[in-house]
Amino acid sequence: PALHTLLNLDEIEAAAKMQVSKKCWAYYFSAADDLISKSYNNAVFRNILLRPRVFVDCTVASTETTVLGHKIGTPLYVSPAAMARLAHPDGEAGIGKGITSFGAMQLVSNNASMTPEQIVANAAPGTIFGWQLYVQNDRAKSEAMLKRIAKMRDYYKCVVLTLDAPVPGKREHDEKSNLESQLTVDSASNEKVDGEKRPGGGGVGQQLFFGTAADLTWQTTLPWLAKHTDLPIVLKGVQTHEDAYLAAQYARKHPGSVKAIILSNHGGRALDTAPPAVHTLLEIRKYCPEVFDTIEVWIDGGIRRGTDVVKALCLGAKAVGVGRAALWGLGAGGWKGVERTFEILQAEILTCMKLLGAKTVADLGPRLINSRMVERD
Ligand code: FNR
Repeated sequence: PALHTLLNLDEIEAAAKMQVSKKCWAYYFSAADDLISKSYNNAVFRNILLRPRVFVDCTVASTETTVLGHKIGTPLYVSPAAMARLAHPDGEAGIGKGITSFGAMQLVSNNASMTPEQIVANAAPGTIFGWQLYVQNDRAKSEAMLKRIAKMRDYYKCVVLTLDAPVPGKREHDEKSNLESQLTVDSASNEKVDGEKRPGGGGVGQQLFFGTAADLTWQTTLPWLAKHTDLPIVLKGVQTHEDAYLAAQYARKHPGSVKAIILSNHGGRALDTAPPAVHTLLEIRKYCPEVFDTIEVWIDGGIRRGTDVVKALCLGAKAVGVGRAALWGLGAGGWKGVERTFEILQAEILTCMKLLGAKTVADLGPRLINSRMVERD
């Protein structure tokens, strides 16, 4: 189908499913165990209601905001996701091209299918990128990547350290499709791949995780990372208010290190029945709201509609990520499919803001939503 006839993210996903390989579909779609966190990530937004105010002149509304002090055109960003070229040869660079006109940020996966250099080669000046790190057992490999990233500081403005998947979750769709046709994982940026034999069996996810360290700690990993990068550090995969508090405490003690956290359960792909980011956001509001004053809080997981994004912003998120949606856009039509995905979401965000009585991102706050139905603990 022509891209302009696709009106929402479900239709983009359906179009992508028709076009990508079975293996690609299984890898992107898959989540851990029974897909409970994955489906709840989205369902949770249905139980948060909006509280629209009237008599607000909203002829014009704007989604402009900042992350880590940098101006961005929209709080909507692309979450790091491995292997975009499984969906389309445009790959991660195509994702970048598709989101350029929105001024959105792109976080690039450690396991991207193109090098970080290739991905920014044709980026519009001023575009904000982040590079996501899975610390490797062989630390020298990660250190070498951090050196490469440091050379592209016009583009890469942060290092995103993913913490929620020290081991891969059990993703049965992925595993099953890999049983049917064994894929050789070839991730250009992923130095650990070079010359190393991967174990057979498991899904694409398990193969990509080969060599990833599971021994990260507050005490050892952050000092090591700070030694090898002077970019701001973003901790991805925080799932409790306790860890959000520890991140903020660390940030206060070590200025110039941790600058943001991403509340995420990895799109439900790591620990099934782990909470959706919105729950963690609500916990932080309740138990340690000072976190919001110390570090930025970004969230991802289950975003399907502009209203989902706006609700997260109302609850205090500074930026909101999409993982699968960008990949499905790529699968549906290469970079143009990504552009269509962002066009749909961006228009929905603006419509939502106007109907809610909010002209700017700064206008969005808890007064505009009712989250009582999801506040249970
Ligand atoms: C991911 N995610 C992920 N996260 C990360 O830190 N590094 C990675 O390499 C990947 N790879 C990856 C591959 C695929 C196919 C998916 C779907 C996801 C998780 C990702 O950053 C994000 O947390 C979720 O995708 C957000 O949920 P939604 O938007 O997919 O529902």
